Amino acid sequence: MLILMTFGSIAIVVVLSVALAPYIRRYFAGGVCKSAARLDGKTALITGANTGIGKETARDLARRGARVIIACRDLSKGEAAASQIRAETGSEQVLVRRLDLADNRSIKQFAEDFLKEENRLHILINNAGVMMCPYSHTVDGFEMQFGVNHLGHFLLTHLLLDLLKQSAPARIINVSSLGHNFGRIKFDDLQSERSYEGGLAYCQSKLANVLFTRELAKRLAGTRVTVNSVHPGTVKSELVRHSSLMALSWRIFSFFIKTPWEGAQTNIFCAVAEELENVSGKHFSDCSPAFVAPQGRNEETAKRLWDVSCTLLGVQWD
Ligand SMILES: *[C@@H]1O[C@H](CO)[C@@H](O)[C@H](O)[C@H]1NC(C)=O
Ligand SMILES: *[C@@H]1O[C@H](CO)[C@@H](O)[C@H](O)[C@H]1NC(C)=O
Ligand SMILES: *[C@@H]1O[C@H](CO)[C@@H](O)[C@H](O)[C@H]1NC(C)=O
Repeated sequence: MLILMTFGSIAIVVVLSVALAPYIRRYFAGGVCKSAARLDGKTALITGANTGIGKETARDLARRGARVIIACRDLSKGEAAASQIRAETGSEQVLVRRLDLADNRSIKQFAEDFLKEENRLHILINNAGVMMCPYSHTVDGFEMQFGVNHLGHFLLTHLLLDLLKQSAPARIINVSSLGHNFGRIKFDDLQSERSYEGGLAYCQSKLANVLFTRELAKRLAGTRVTVNSVHPGTVKSELVRHSSLMALSWRIFSFFIKTPWEGAQTNIFCAVAEELENVSGKHFSDCSPAFVAPQGRNEETAKRLWDVSCTLLGVQWD
């Protein structure tokens, strides 16, 4: 009798799970960008767009008619992604340019060439990122995650800002993460020289993204250039390549994890949605406004980090 009952409840659980699976899956898939906005005549630059959600974002914007520049370290991988997108969308306006965000010189060279070749920039998506890599330095001696995820994009944005302003209305999108909630800016050890833990350094760099978004939004008030940050969700991507534990759990829980296409939806939403035209300094997830941890709302920390970043990069930002 007991065995029969147990069997019965197992059967009910199994039937229910199977029946509910599509709904559970849809819940974890998050929002979908519903905007039908066209981007003909607009130029978009996406860093790290040779793979993952960057590539999905590039594909979507190309389909909407935008001229899309894929900026990445490895030109042959970038070209492979670009030719696939060109073939699928029928757009000839998908280009690849070399950019290594772990190298000041590469960033400056990239920006210099970009300003020569392009006379417009309407959408900048700071998407490239490294996560939980072993302790290492950028060419300029910055801790890799802080250097690439934060400082490299800071410099890139700085160098392209005049063009964005001239092209206004324009949008900057910073791909951050839920990880910012666990981050803390260690002003006494920004480069993690005294102690390094890959996950914490990642969260610090993602908190920096959120803080910068807010500080920059303030500075851009009235320019019709908006800047917002995005949490794409937990996405199957090459980002976990440095952590075998994370790669394994990604595989086990893959049912609950977004595909790159799903992960790209909030990026796309922030890049195209008409109702966001004047929205700036906000954080989005699943195509809706999202919670920002208190440390991501601290104006003083934002200002201080801004000044330290300018000093580290030797740039004047006024
Ligand atoms: C995010 O936003 C600001 C302003 O655009 C930029 O300086 C900062 O480095 C960006 N970081 C990233 C990758 O999100
Ligand atoms: C954004 O602001 C401009 C200028 O003030 C205005 O013309 C436009 O209608 C606004 N857009 C939205 C979606 O609110
Ligand atoms: C690049 O990095 C070095 C750190 O080695 C820094 O001193 C320099 O001013 C940086 N900035 C630029 C824009 O080159």
